[in-house]
Amino acid sequence: MNRYEGRRALVTGGGSGIGQATVLRMLAEGGRVVAADVSEAGLADTVAKAGDAATRLTTVVMDVADEDSVKAGVATAVQALGGLDAVVNAAGILRSSHTHETTLASFEQVLRINLVGTFLVVRETIPALREGNGAAVVNFSSTSAMFAHPYMAAYAASKGGIQSMTHALASEYAGAGIRFNSVQPGSISSGMTDGSGASKQSAGPGLPADADMSLFMKLAPALGQGFAGPETVAGVVAMLASDDGAFITGTEVRIDGGTHF
Ligand SMILES: NC(=O)c1ccc[n+]([C@@H]2O[C@H](COP(=O)([O-])OP(=O)(O)OC[C@H]3O[C@@H](n4cnc5c(N)ncnc54)[C@H](O)[C@@H]3O)[C@@H](O)[C@H]2O)c1
Repeated sequence: MNRYEGRRALVTGGGSGIGQATVLRMLAEGGRVVAADVSEAGLADTVAKAGDAATRLTTVVMDVADEDSVKAGVATAVQALGGLDAVVNAAGILRSSHTHETTLASFEQVLRINLVGTFLVVRETIPALREGNGAAVVNFSSTSAMFAHPYMAAYAASKGGIQSMTHALASEYAGAGIRFNSVQPGSISSGMTDGSGASKQSAGPGLPADADMSLFMKLAPALGQGFAGPETVAGVVAMLASDDGAFITGTEVRIDGGTHF
């Protein structure tokens, strides 16, 4: 499949996990890609994994929570690619704690990176996407947006916000030819779920020591032997952001191996 030949894509969170797998998938399908991440080490890892396809890969260090950094990063990406057809907002962090012990700074950091970061990248890329071909944006919600995930109130709120925002954007920009969808991954091995995130920001503290683990009994995939690899999500993201998804907008796709029905 070469759905990305002639296609220009920006992927945030491209230095680890699902974002990195999406970059590699789009390159494998012939695309030209800018991988953006706050982690330089993560981006270097993505370049190494791209092999020969790295000639079609540009990396940009960008903090999605910082307005000036997003403005500069998007401008660099659009210049490097000569335009933009697809944007994937995979950058994100997870913080877990009892809600009654969660600091305002921690709650706001999760909202800032996940929700406000997605808004900033969307806002800055819309002018280029308006001029793009079959323009499409894929945002990252989560199963936590619709199903209870204890000790992750800020994260769940950020992902619910992203999902709602995606519907509003789809309606607002359908006339401009830009599609907006979100994915809801769950139970995917990545820096976020195994704590080995490329950036310390993504490897947040784990569950509280006294967490009631029985609450997680319901959160196991029905398919397979456990967590799936990030490429499982990347393939779906690549479809949604390609012309194969040309008649899909304003919706979400759950990719969780049947953890939730
Ligand atoms: N893994 C799962 O099971 C799962 C489930 C639901 C949703 N998600 C979502 O998938 C997306 C990708 O996460 P992942 O699981 O691959 O985790 P990951 O930690 O492997 O990747 C996240 C990437 O985002 C980057 N990042 C963090 N803060 C940033 C910032 N301020 N600016 C730019 N980049 C930043 C990190 O450096 C990292 O490379 C996230 O939005 C996450 O919330 C993952």
